[in-house]
Amino acid sequence: MKSKYDSNVEFWNRDSKIIQSDFLCRPHVLKLLGGVKDKRILDAGCGEGYLSRILSNQGAMVVAIDSSRGMIEKAKNYSKENKVKYCVDSILSLKTVRKNSIDKAISVMVFNYLNKKSEWNIALRKIHGILKKSGEFVLALQHPFEIVHSPKTNWIDHIKNENKVYWDEKGIFKKLFDFRGNSFRTKNIHRTFSTILNKLIENGFEIKRVLEPKPSKKDLRSFKRMWGDEIKYPYYLIIKSIKK
Ligand SMILES: C[S@@+](CC[C@H](N)C(=O)[O-])C[C@H]1O[C@@H](n2cnc3c(N)ncnc32)[C@H](O)[C@@H]1O
Repeated sequence: MKSKYDSNVEFWNRDSKIIQSDFLCRPHVLKLLGGVKDKRILDAGCGEGYLSRILSNQGAMVVAIDSSRGMIEKAKNYSKENKVKYCVDSILSLKTVRKNSIDKAISVMVFNYLNKKSEWNIALRKIHGILKKSGEFVLALQHPFEIVHSPKTNWIDHIKNENKVYWDEKGIFKKLFDFRGNSFRTKNIHRTFSTILNKLIENGFEIKRVLEPKPSKKDLRSFKRMWGDEIKYPYYLIIKSIKK
């Protein structure tokens, strides 16, 4: 089946930092994940494999799944030389990953695509099931305050998001830009802080650490003209938890 994400493959296809989240989200996910050498890692919703490749190069045994066949095909082409195991699969089923087999899992900018709140329970239970005892899970998603401050930045154009209500867990519409000016439109489902934290807790995770990354001076020197309100407000929420 063709996935709507198949059409975004070329935008995401990269091996260096080209979009806002490559600065403010992914490096912080990797830091929070800690040591990965010889660990079995799941990249849940891996896209074209940007993070899977980095983890594999750091010595991890990476299992990477995505519901988009186009993304997985691109990832496989990239990675002929490395050892990532890529599969078309959904975080709502995880049928290609063995139970209790994974040391650490990440899911980066994927849960905001789940339309129904009940799907959070399904996906978190699946991730809980494939983790070994005390296995770690790093979840990264758009920060729930983004809806409140509708920040100004050249990395993201907020479309029709005025007068949104924080407690309404509905879609927010954005156009994401890379530094070359390429863009694509996306819809992320906003979730409140309490929904995100409570879903993890209700589904058997113990929260260990929470990050709301700020741009570093070095980040701000790269593609200077792109940055705006990132120095005032958080854009990403990253949560490390363990399987209880
Ligand atoms: C914004 S991209 C992020 C990709 C990657 N995690 C990264 O950080 O570069 C979102 C990805 O989530 C995938 N996705 C959306 N819903 C999914 C689901 N239910 N199961 C697995 N992947 C999903 C899309 O196909 C897309 O590749």
